[in-house]
Amino acid sequence: MPILKIIRYGAWAAVALLTFAAAAITLGWWRVDGPGRPGSGAAMSTPLADVGGPFTSTDHTGRKVSQADYLGKPTLVFFGFTHCPEVCPTTLFELTTLLGKLGLEADKLNVLFVSVDPERDTPEQLSLYLQSFDPRITGLSGTQAEVDAALKAYKAYAKRIPTQDDYTMDHTASVYLMDAEGRFRSLIDYHEEQDSALAKVKLLLKR
Ligand code: NI
Repeated sequence: MPILKIIRYGAWAAVALLTFAAAAITLGWWRVDGPGRPGSGAAMSTPLADVGGPFTSTDHTGRKVSQADYLGKPTLVFFGFTHCPEVCPTTLFELTTLLGKLGLEADKLNVLFVSVDPERDTPEQLSLYLQSFDPRITGLSGTQAEVDAALKAYKAYAKRIPTQDDYTMDHTASVYLMDAEGRFRSLIDYHEEQDSALAKVKLLLKR
């Protein structure tokens, strides 16, 4: 009966496709907040030399800064923007909780919130916005060229999306864990369990 054979092959094909999709989702090939994923959490012991690198910017106090200002301490790097409706405030709130759990240990970290929306995110705007979160989080807002260079260095992604009356930004939602020498070590994914994120940061501090 050829029709039964067709059904049987069809079923097998569907199973194979579902297995592939499940594996892809598990490995994180598809993400909540756009592409730009540089590696998985398993990268903790094998730094990806090509993620991160020199950058220049202006911090939320108006000071000109560069990567050199943050070397010597492990650094958490997160790209976002102050008009973000969900991903950024959620992540900054979770980072605030995490820094609170670390207590004084958190003083041994830099935490950088790098704006991908320099048009609206002036240092003053960043300063105002960050008042809602842990004071140890530093906001950075460079020129568009500086932002583009930082995004490229971190293999991160940001895209301007027009809305009815304004625009929003789609952007990489992961937090980059960089060691004291500025080498990429791991990522905290959006909505990652707090315990898992805390363990990753503690490991980063131990290095
Ligand atoms: Ni955001």
